[in-house]
Amino acid sequence: MTDARTAPGTNPLRDSRDRRLPRIAGPCGLVIFGVTGDLARKKLMPAVYDLSQRGLLPPGFSLVGFARRDWADQDFSQVVHDAVRARSRTPFSEAVWEQLAEGLRFVPGEFDDDAAFARLRTVVEDLDRQRGTGGNHAFYLSVPPRSFPVVLKQLHRSGLASREGTGWRRLVVEKPFGHDLASARELDGLIGSVFPTEGVFRIDHYLGKETVQNLLALRFANELFEPVWNAHHVDHVQITMAEDIGIGGRAGYYDGIGAARDVIQNHLLQLLALTAMEEPVSFDADALRAEKEKVLSAVRLPDDLALGAARGQYTAGWQGGREVVGYLDEEGTDPGSTTETYAALRLNVETRRWAGVPFYLRTGKRLGRRVTEIAVVFSRAPHLPFDHSATKELGQNALVIRVQPDEGVTIRFGSKVPGTSLEVRDVTMDFGYGTSFTESSPEAYERLILDVLLGDPPLFPRHEEVDLSWRILDPVIDHWAREGAPEPYSAGTWGPPSADAMMARDGRAWRRP
Ligand code: BG6
Repeated sequence: MTDARTAPGTNPLRDSRDRRLPRIAGPCGLVIFGVTGDLARKKLMPAVYDLSQRGLLPPGFSLVGFARRDWADQDFSQVVHDAVRARSRTPFSEAVWEQLAEGLRFVPGEFDDDAAFARLRTVVEDLDRQRGTGGNHAFYLSVPPRSFPVVLKQLHRSGLASREGTGWRRLVVEKPFGHDLASARELDGLIGSVFPTEGVFRIDHYLGKETVQNLLALRFANELFEPVWNAHHVDHVQITMAEDIGIGGRAGYYDGIGAARDVIQNHLLQLLALTAMEEPVSFDADALRAEKEKVLSAVRLPDDLALGAARGQYTAGWQGGREVVGYLDEEGTDPGSTTETYAALRLNVETRRWAGVPFYLRTGKRLGRRVTEIAVVFSRAPHLPFDHSATKELGQNALVIRVQPDEGVTIRFGSKVPGTSLEVRDVTMDFGYGTSFTESSPEAYERLILDVLLGDPPLFPRHEEVDLSWRILDPVIDHWAREGAPEPYSAGTWGPPSADAMMARDGRAWRRP
């Protein structure tokens, strides 16, 4: 009889936890700095409610908001309530809300005000006594990067960063992790002087997406794909993160930052790393991060960045039947801004597995449609035993991981067109989350906040990954800074002509999702 613990292919020495069981956070609290911002209202508060709704938070869980507003606890409670009603994923339940609301607190104050941090400390200690949070608190920096240093200093000075007794203190940092390699290192030094490495959780919310985690399942739980996942069979990889929205009210953050720093440095390079990495010995944080780092350190930029990189800035146009303004006319942008809202790059991963296989990355605002996908495009069959006319319409095989919005996986391959003649044409085979599973996917922030509270780090990039990503990107950003204004593209199109030209020079074309 086969014992499940020693079934072929399983390793009895590995962690024997049943990973299908719900993981429930122990006693703890979460303090959010910048609680009046967009991220807190649109993502963090609804995610906390959804976790609570799913029974994954402890009964005494407490959420403390810290911001400059002159609010009392009840005002804060109303703000959280509205955010939850507007955006939570799971149905609203009065009973769940009431329990959550009992643990809501608000501390008004400026970040440089010592007295405000002393009040925060008192609130946190009261929660330990009244609600049994046990000295376990996570501090979430949902604030602009310029405020990171002052908040960190205050957490240190007030003693909030130091664990008490058996409790834990954790720091959650939202990107951007610096704006180049030097500033990222400086930030890391500062964080490291206040929190120990294992207490720091860097959020890249793409890693919290189910479809991104599914990349690991797809690659390493199946026999079908891995044998062809290499330079012998793959022609190239296209990673696309296209958005139809403009920068909305985010000029203050985005202008001067641009598409490469905003999403290539983090989301897209993480997707590349997960696509290209070798199988980790386990999915523990160290093993997983080490494999991603190997990929990032093997990434090479094109010799000539003028030919292997492209960038653009959207101008006025039509989107979804609506006329929209250009980037320079968005509220808050500098009228002479050279910030790119579109960026594309050709990268090589110099390993035996990927030698000669280009990875094309592109992202942009105000593109034709919102879609994020990873397309692994295969080489043509070495021989086609058909008349040339039979395969005129046949493209290359492709495996497309549809990250969002229509989550799933598509395989494209050739099939005979029904009829008396022999003609082969592309068809697709689809897996969709919506049709294969009954439960809806948790939001990325639900998963990530829960992991912070559980102290489970695999889905959080560590500093070395951030460092390597900036090393890749810094030369590109410097190159663009020397070049002046980005190329314009009309809102609602698929980006600047130079990005198409970049692909055409390689004899390829971008997918039109
Ligand atoms: C953020 C970027 O990290 O990701 C935004 O700062 C972008 O500019 C957003 O709009 C997109 O996230 P999602 O989950 O909607 O793809």
